[in-house]
Amino acid sequence: MTRTVYVNGDYLPEHEAKVSIFDRAFLMGDGVYEVTSVLGGKLIDFDGHLKRLERSLNELDMPHPAAMGDLLEIHRELVRVNEITDGMVYLQVTRGSDGDRDFVFPNPETTAPTVVLFTQSKPGMAKAPMADKGMSVISVDDLRWGRRDIKTVQLLYPSMCKMMAKKAGADDAWLVQDGFVTEGSSNNAYIVKDGKIITRELSNDILHGITRAAVLRFAAEAQMEVVERNFTIDEAKDADEAFITSASTFVMPVVKVDGETLGDGTPGRVAKRLREIYLDESLKTAI
Ligand code: PDD
Repeated sequence: MTRTVYVNGDYLPEHEAKVSIFDRAFLMGDGVYEVTSVLGGKLIDFDGHLKRLERSLNELDMPHPAAMGDLLEIHRELVRVNEITDGMVYLQVTRGSDGDRDFVFPNPETTAPTVVLFTQSKPGMAKAPMADKGMSVISVDDLRWGRRDIKTVQLLYPSMCKMMAKKAGADDAWLVQDGFVTEGSSNNAYIVKDGKIITRELSNDILHGITRAAVLRFAAEAQMEVVERNFTIDEAKDADEAFITSASTFVMPVVKVDGETLGDGTPGRVAKRLREIYLDESLKTAI
């Protein structure tokens, strides 16, 4: 089946979809994005992703696309026509193209944002084998720009981090700034010590994960203690367990940090419980 994608108001077969070579995202990385997961044909945490998209647009003075109010319908239509049961919807909004290259932003009155959406099918995504096995991470310097709270498409360094991890035989990288873990290359990072869930507090240093917000809320509701503070890689190596969160991995246990095995090397109790709670609760509010 040919994938149907959405570009600036049109639903098209993917090979017919076109964006200008002058598009600001292509030339300048001048675009923002969201990834919303789909389980059982329904969107998880859609409102959270829409709110963060609005925030990213506002922080960059990027005009809101005309389709802003239709985004839920567009997501649903793509899920429907592409017959997605489990997977993701990727959404990107860019500052558009005024037909040339210039560092200065184009006039928003005459240059409309580009809006692109497509689906990715991942059957059985909630039952990823990695959740039973746990993942390994390596630490790398956080060399990204200073506004990681904005979900921009400037993903070269995170891609390089994934490649460094792959080369080292690990599954992902945790980024370290001034001696403290900021987040994973495409996820938020957590350790668990003496029953406490520890994760870096929100700031411009990390993406304000939609999954993070939900997981911390569910943890508090389940009477688990959450501490939002910086932690080091040494603390992570010495932790009872660790995990990451993101829209595409939900809650994923980490069992190795820089080659050091945590606990008995299997996914920890807290991570497993939070994964279960997150999947159960998010499905209840999926739309
Ligand atoms: N990544 N931190 C970074 C740097 C991320 O790229 C992501 C998400 C997260 C988790 O955010 P959320 O829970 O809202 O997905 C944290 C997405 C999934 C991606 O780039 O594919």
